[in-house]
Amino acid sequence: MKPKLVIGNWKMNETFDEAQDLIINIAESLEKLTLETEVVMCPPFPYLELATDHAEENDFHAGAQNCSEYEKGAYTGEVSAKMLASLGVEFCIVGHSERRKYFNESNQTIAAKVDRLLEEGLVPVVCCGEQLEDRKADNHFKVVEKQITESLFHLNQEQFEQVVIAYEPVWAIGTGETATPQQAEDMHAFIRSLVEKKYGTETAYNTYILYGGSCNAKNALDLFAQADVDGGLIGGASLKAEDFVTIIEAAETVVKEN
Ligand code: PGA
Repeated sequence: MKPKLVIGNWKMNETFDEAQDLIINIAESLEKLTLETEVVMCPPFPYLELATDHAEENDFHAGAQNCSEYEKGAYTGEVSAKMLASLGVEFCIVGHSERRKYFNESNQTIAAKVDRLLEEGLVPVVCCGEQLEDRKADNHFKVVEKQITESLFHLNQEQFEQVVIAYEPVWAIGTGETATPQQAEDMHAFIRSLVEKKYGTETAYNTYILYGGSCNAKNALDLFAQADVDGGLIGGASLKAEDFVTIIEAAETVVKEN
């Protein structure tokens, strides 16, 4: 089993002081561990420099939660991939279901953001996932296939190999209702088969496919034990240092035992 990747998505939470405390608490706990697991923290834009400052000395990376689809210029309020790169940010979440829902992001917008990030050498963490209605109608595989195909399959092999995929069923995000380990595994194996068809077996194996949606300190171990679950994108539980570190330790345990 390859080392896992655990990413914390803070969403629109924390003041500056709270952000500082949280980053320091997590960093201090990580310092005591010898980790193979890669850890990323994605605070809101104003705290990214805090994160990159601490990331340098500690064993984690800084990530953003979004970026502009445009390169630069008159786009008031936007933040470009180049700006993120210039701060030392290494990862960026794109296409989160909250952005699709509240900011009307389409697969095409997401594809453009992926391109901007790759141009600047950042790792795009591309989210996909079905609504509850899609699952009830047994349409979930089709929905995810369309999202992946339209937002990622324009990339050439070398570009695609820089990308991380996060499967986040919308009905599980922030609801406390987690996908069962088997539901997660079935979708992850399906996504990997799509990648295999397009980019080959080796790339499919190496692609990180994370699970997100009410992943917490209690259920992380069972989810991460699935063969095709390469880690997690953690929302609510990434705001509590102790829980986030427990999730990272779960990732570590699973890899050591397999
Ligand atoms: P959650 O969020 O862990 O709070 O469900 C996950 C996410 O939206 O990335």
